Amino acid sequence: MCGIVGYIGDRSAVEVLISGLRKLEYRGYDSAGLATISPNSKELLRIRAKGKLNNLEKKLIDDPSHKDAKIGIGHTRWATHGKPEEHNAHPHTNSTGSLAVVQNGIIENYHALRVDLKYLGHEFISETDTEVIPHLISEFLRGNTLLEAVRLAVGKLQGAFAIAVLSADYPDELIVVRQQAPLVIGIGKNENFFASDTPALISYTNVIMALENGEIGRITRSGVEIYNFNGDRQKRGMQTLSWNPVMVEKQGFRHYMLKEIHEQPGVIRAGLAKFVNEKNEINLGLDAKLNLQDLTNIQILACGTSWHAALVGKYLLEQLVGIPTTVNYASEYRYAAPPIMPNTLVIGVTQSGETADTLAALELARSRGDRTLGITNRPESSIGRLADQVLDTQAGIEIGVAATKTFVAQLLMFYLLTLELGKSRRSLTTEAISTIIEGLRQLPAQIERILESQERYIENLAHRFSHARDVIYLGRGINFPIALEGALKLKEISYIHAEAYPAGEMKHGPIALLDENMPVIAIATPGQVYEKVLSNAQEAKARDAQLIGVAPMSDPVAVETFDHILPIPIVDEILSPILTVIPLQLFAYHIAAHRGLDVDQPRNLAKSVTVE
Ligand code: M6R
Repeated sequence: MCGIVGYIGDRSAVEVLISGLRKLEYRGYDSAGLATISPNSKELLRIRAKGKLNNLEKKLIDDPSHKDAKIGIGHTRWATHGKPEEHNAHPHTNSTGSLAVVQNGIIENYHALRVDLKYLGHEFISETDTEVIPHLISEFLRGNTLLEAVRLAVGKLQGAFAIAVLSADYPDELIVVRQQAPLVIGIGKNENFFASDTPALISYTNVIMALENGEIGRITRSGVEIYNFNGDRQKRGMQTLSWNPVMVEKQGFRHYMLKEIHEQPGVIRAGLAKFVNEKNEINLGLDAKLNLQDLTNIQILACGTSWHAALVGKYLLEQLVGIPTTVNYASEYRYAAPPIMPNTLVIGVTQSGETADTLAALELARSRGDRTLGITNRPESSIGRLADQVLDTQAGIEIGVAATKTFVAQLLMFYLLTLELGKSRRSLTTEAISTIIEGLRQLPAQIERILESQERYIENLAHRFSHARDVIYLGRGINFPIALEGALKLKEISYIHAEAYPAGEMKHGPIALLDENMPVIAIATPGQVYEKVLSNAQEAKARDAQLIGVAPMSDPVAVETFDHILPIPIVDEILSPILTVIPLQLFAYHIAAHRGLDVDQPRNLAKSVTVE
């Protein structure tokens, strides 16, 4: 969580910092702040504001002192230690105000350091863990360069963090540190940048240099030096990103989330084009050292929406390939991993590639000797360096905090992985594989049909239910994870309480909640459990619940059963999750938009959860 950004060069530092922070605001928006060095007085200047970036921008209008600065650091905060108030906003400074620090992450031993520093006469203004850092660095500055002082200070810090340091005494350099929290350096011509995430850089440069964990960077306008924590100089190459700045704009949509919902057909087409040839042969390019032939089980690690994608993956891997598969909350696996088993493949699923729990769980699996595979749309992220191999889902960057297109892309990867394993382990015939691939190829057009012909209807229905207090979602089999995902989407962006149950479980307790005020959304797609779900829906109807079905409009039984239908085309049950999730995303989106909520940046959430 939190976003940090920095610039040195000939441009207006404030412009670069604000533009970068705008792209990083998805990481937290409790407060924002920046520090620059005045080119005239050579003083360090700082400005901070509680709340969203707009508040900082308004303050900057009344405070032109930063406007000529050519060097600076900025921060957007997701509060961990200390309330979201201005005095806790970053940057934090040392006692003289000559040195400023921004941080993303947590300094776990900050309390002990604070006690020691107070004893040495340092005064603290905030309740944050970060504030110890500028004080600590200033202790080490006596007789040392800024780089060396930062290196010595970092040696005292425990936790996972990325930090950036600006000092009035070193007005031509920025020092950055990466320790288990993301940080990337952007390379320009006579100018350089850094940020927690590449979208903040892409308007200025697509050439990046990755800092590894345990490294310190010294950035000047003409170059970058990288050192490890022992002070040894490190060699580092550059990477060129294939993105363009337009990809991180809203492109006429009211919200990023809506744009990303509409990008889903393209995401599936891109995934199929990348991994499947015209003869319906799949090639994921999986490394031979993953030794997939002798796998006896798979463990999947993920959080949130990625965890829901993993549940669909488990269904596919077990039902179509017969490999025992467990899906673990990464945060639980870290402290209660299952017993070590030979021939285990551990798959980490994460859209951001930076979720602290997922990375730590995957690292644990690696340390136990398991083979590891990552599934992500951000192969350049931390999971790309951690897993033995990563599969790029081809979804590209997602900005809306509520995951949509990245979920569908993760699902597609699980279908392809299942089919590839099914082929190599001979659990699926070539014909069966071809039939499923042909079905996958139909999905983009089917999603387009939902978006084109049903969105207005779904929007109207969403308005009717926008005052609901609670909503129950039901699904069975391969669509139970979609019920979970529909409920999560609604909770996250509309703040309406929602719960999902396997439809058959409702009668074992949740049915007591039903009355005429409770909307129940049931996913009913023709297949193995269709009649069962319709019966469960009838049980809800008999208790006066308002029944909404995600179902094919063409089935008269569904039309008769449900009060309202979120329609989907008829599709093979095994492929249905990629379609059934679409109306649920739209339903949640239109409820939240109708309620006038901040769809892309819901309260208390952040796109990358980089703290434990
Ligand atoms: O980046 P990750 O996929 O690892 O993120 C996991 C969850 O934090 C994430 O899916 C979260 O639940 C989203 N806000 C879902 O919309």
